[in-house]
Amino acid sequence: MSSMSPTPAEPSPSRTAAVIPAAGRGVRLGPGTPKALRALGGTPMLIHAVRAMAASRAVTLVVLVAPPDGAAEVKNLIDGHALPERTDYVVVPGGATRQESVRLGLDALPDDVSVVLVHDAARPLVPVDTVDAVIEAVRDGAPAVVPALPLADTVKEVEPAEPGVPEPGVPEPVLSTPVRARLRAVQTPQGFDRDTLVRAHESVAVDGEGATDDAGMVERLGAPVVVVPGHEEAFKVTRPLDLVLAEAVLARRRANDGF
Ligand code: CTP
Ligand code: MG
Repeated sequence: MSSMSPTPAEPSPSRTAAVIPAAGRGVRLGPGTPKALRALGGTPMLIHAVRAMAASRAVTLVVLVAPPDGAAEVKNLIDGHALPERTDYVVVPGGATRQESVRLGLDALPDDVSVVLVHDAARPLVPVDTVDAVIEAVRDGAPAVVPALPLADTVKEVEPAEPGVPEPGVPEPVLSTPVRARLRAVQTPQGFDRDTLVRAHESVAVDGEGATDDAGMVERLGAPVVVVPGHEEAFKVTRPLDLVLAEAVLARRRANDGF
């Protein structure tokens, strides 16, 4: 049966976008190219991260926050790597801290986006099931959702020998030992009701290094934050050994896919 009028292309009432901060230097990884541009299995880390977000059918827009002077290069990179047809992308230059970079990404969101994921480019291998679980929890009504895992190591709070810089060899007094079973190591993508995340970024000033955790900013608003199960492959590439692990995960995937 044919219809008399064409079906209008209505924007989805709950369009989901992923903001990917990728503007960091990667100081802890050592000297070289900015971390998000380093290759894993021959493909730049940020391309893996973009694909990981685009793998979710719900994600129809990716906002990539590039190193401040690298937006053109990043745009070229993404142009050269196929994304699903449903996925639009925008590249914006980032800031001096992760908090500023995320804020610049949020500023680039179109009006019809109501659910926002924030995902570190430095977590290139997060499985799509984790992405979907976060989105589903936000759509079910949680204003902020964080994937997280229990800790393997016991954690101690110390009085740092030099604030921020652990100096090798200098003993640091222990202040307390939180009960490990109550702790979670948080990952990304973190998922948010857009208005809640924007309010958090408007109300929390950038202080020093800035906030490294978007959900923490929402907590400071007093809004509820929930944790859903994370995934061990959503680890952050931070130090050189993490590159070894990432290459091993990719090799295992290739073997399993029969490549
Ligand atoms: N990030 C960003 N803008 C910054 C700093 C960090 O977009 N000014 C991004 C990084 O690119 C990364 C994510 O935030 O994808 C998580 O940060 P982190 O793992 O700390 O990466 P870097 O800051 O690049 O690494 P380092 O702290 O070792 O320099
Ligand atoms: Mg950093």
